Amino acid sequence: MSFVTCEVQDRVAVVTINRPEALNALNPDVLADLKAAFEGIDQDEVRCVVLTGAGEKSFVAGADIGSMSTMTKAEGQEFGKLGNDIFLFIETFPLPVIAAVNGFALGGGNELAMSCDIRLAAENAVFGQPEVGLGITPGFGGTQRLARLVSPGMAKQLVYAATNIDAAEALRIGLVNAVHPADELMAAALKLAGRIAKQAPIAVRNCKRAINEGLDLPIEQAVELEERLFGDCFETHDQQEGMGCFLSKDKPKPKPQFTNN
Ligand code: HXC
Repeated sequence: MSFVTCEVQDRVAVVTINRPEALNALNPDVLADLKAAFEGIDQDEVRCVVLTGAGEKSFVAGADIGSMSTMTKAEGQEFGKLGNDIFLFIETFPLPVIAAVNGFALGGGNELAMSCDIRLAAENAVFGQPEVGLGITPGFGGTQRLARLVSPGMAKQLVYAATNIDAAEALRIGLVNAVHPADELMAAALKLAGRIAKQAPIAVRNCKRAINEGLDLPIEQAVELEERLFGDCFETHDQQEGMGCFLSKDKPKPKPQFTNN
């Protein structure tokens, strides 16, 4: 049985990490199932992904401490690479991914949320990188993505002091986009995903690439990348449909019918 489920409705895939008895902690099997779930998404049908954790308490409470406790240096490095490869796969997944953070997002859980495009949090969510309290560094991208997402100084404070923060503080420092009552979180995530799903899919994918890849480039190269991805949208059905619907003033404004080509 898989530790990760995926359900598709109205062009939105909901991927759920399903190991609630361990607060959805990530062991190698869970990580493999997570990768398989994303690989199984039909990118022609689906336009946006929502990632969440099963149960009411936890998104993901981190990498599985039990399975890490006896690792050698080499095994630790290998485990870090396993997670990093999968989180990079999610970060560069062509479709937008929204993390619906429904509780604990600690260690690898916060790192997983940070590999998503957008983070929405429940009021009971708790974020943190508690690794130094366990004698290790964050190892699934936490030292890198947290410093890029918030600020180096704030990331260092949270990481060095292993400080957990609540959803309100996560919102204040820009780690999450919005906070919702726990019982409204999924509806809010699905509403946003649904709105994204209605936009032109080639354009949305190109926006994801432009923002993600451009952030790592000097501005001169970043705007060149934007020019290429902007130009790539032209002559597509979506561009002709989107602009055509806007321009056809003689008729009632039709809704654009976007495709993937
Ligand atoms: C393994 C975990 C776990 C974890 C929780 N559990 N987190 N198992 N790895 N990261 C298990 C508990 O052992 C327990 O199992 C069950 O989930 C419920 O947890 P409790 O502790 O009983 O719940 P609660 O008292 O509510 O406390 C919740 C908690 C606490 C504050 C989240 O569980 C906790 O501090 N967990 C560890 C958080 C953490 O340090 N994460 C970072 C890990 S390092 P049983 O069988 O006893 O019921 C990391 C590194 C990433 O992520 C990079 C790797 C390369």
